Amino acid sequence: MASIRTAGLTKNFGDLRAVNEIDLDLPEGGVRVAGHNEELSLVQAMTYRAYGAPDVLQLTTVTRPVPESGEVLVQVHAASLNQADLYLLRGEPWVARLSSGLRRPKRPTLGADIAGRVVAVGGGVTQFQPGDAVYGDLAACGFGGFAEYVCVHEKALAPKPASLSFTQAATVPMAAVTALQGLRAAGPVAAGALVLVHGASGGVGTFAVQLAKAMGAHVTAVCSARHVEQARTLGAEHVIDYTQEDFTRDGRRYDLILVVNGRRSLAEYRRALSPRGRLVVVGGDVGTIMQATLLGPVVSLAHSITVRGLIVHPSRDDLLFVGQLLDSGVVVPVIDRCYPLGELPEAMRYLGSGHARGKVVITMEQAGQ
Ligand SMILES: NC(=O)c1ccc[n+]([C@@H]2O[C@H](COP(=O)([O-])OP(=O)(O)OC[C@H]3O[C@@H](n4cnc5c(N)ncnc54)[C@H](OP(=O)(O)O)[C@@H]3O)[C@@H](O)[C@H]2O)c1
Repeated sequence: MASIRTAGLTKNFGDLRAVNEIDLDLPEGGVRVAGHNEELSLVQAMTYRAYGAPDVLQLTTVTRPVPESGEVLVQVHAASLNQADLYLLRGEPWVARLSSGLRRPKRPTLGADIAGRVVAVGGGVTQFQPGDAVYGDLAACGFGGFAEYVCVHEKALAPKPASLSFTQAATVPMAAVTALQGLRAAGPVAAGALVLVHGASGGVGTFAVQLAKAMGAHVTAVCSARHVEQARTLGAEHVIDYTQEDFTRDGRRYDLILVVNGRRSLAEYRRALSPRGRLVVVGGDVGTIMQATLLGPVVSLAHSITVRGLIVHPSRDDLLFVGQLLDSGVVVPVIDRCYPLGELPEAMRYLGSGHARGKVVITMEQAGQ
């Protein structure tokens, strides 16, 4: 495997930002490098070689990957962070290492949600051509979004909603599709249904409130005091500050509770469900997610309710559905902070604080936003 470590080489590649070290010795299964007969084209990516705190992430220069059959090469203009990136960074929970690498990460570059422009296509690609603006969730096809360029199978991408900037579009794929699949997981949401979103202020929650509203639901948002106004603006008719009120004890009942954040037990959520109500757990307390996933069918039968734990499946159809709502202005992305690629560690630390308001986004220098 090639390994080149040279100081100051980048002065030959004028459009790259200065780096001190060129390192092409990548672990297997990572960002793919160009073949030996390809013209060497160096680009930047944030990589890591060991699980740990955000400081293990380093700005690295790698060769630009070349799309294989079915793939497109995307120049990434923006990439948003998800909690999944943090789990893979830390290598926790440990069970996740069965796929991500037992002792060290198999894939050197994190980043699931991207928006950018197709710059080259591999053989057999039918849906995109160079110049197309796209967005998508790369979680099911190897991550790699925290880089200037990434190769991705065309099936993982959809056309970027025309009305959104790349930065806005990058907030959407995983968070909005998780919210959509969570709302639909136990059946369609009827117009007028009473829906409570527990954890309404982060990446998933801000989309969940808006999508539930778009489905015609009467939405109650649970968040802290500092996000109450935002939840109202996004369409919640009723907002509960979880630091002041306990929605599981106030006597109100909901047709659907979508759990995005927060730490309550299944029994507590059940107390706030209407007869035949539905509880879908997508995030928050890991124990509650596991209980909902493993015990959901039993609890559902025993109490004539529906309880589900949900793991999102990246879906082009769902992305297209959400894209229409975004283009019509029914749903709007909520962006908390943007960071340049080299400040990914700082962005990860901020997301890891657990208090982001909407989405945290990495924006690339070259992007004409
Ligand atoms: N199942 C899946 O496939 C899937 C996919 C994506 C995400 N997820 C999970 O979904 C959850 C949310 O993801 P995310 O991207 O939205 O996270 P996020 O953006 O980091 O969520 C941060 C938000 O959560 C709020 N929050 C923190 N503690 C809370 C509490 N006790 N009650 C209510 N709100 C609280 C914070 O505001 P305050 O601190 O001000 O309250 C902040 O606005 C995570 O657990 C993530 O792992 C699951």
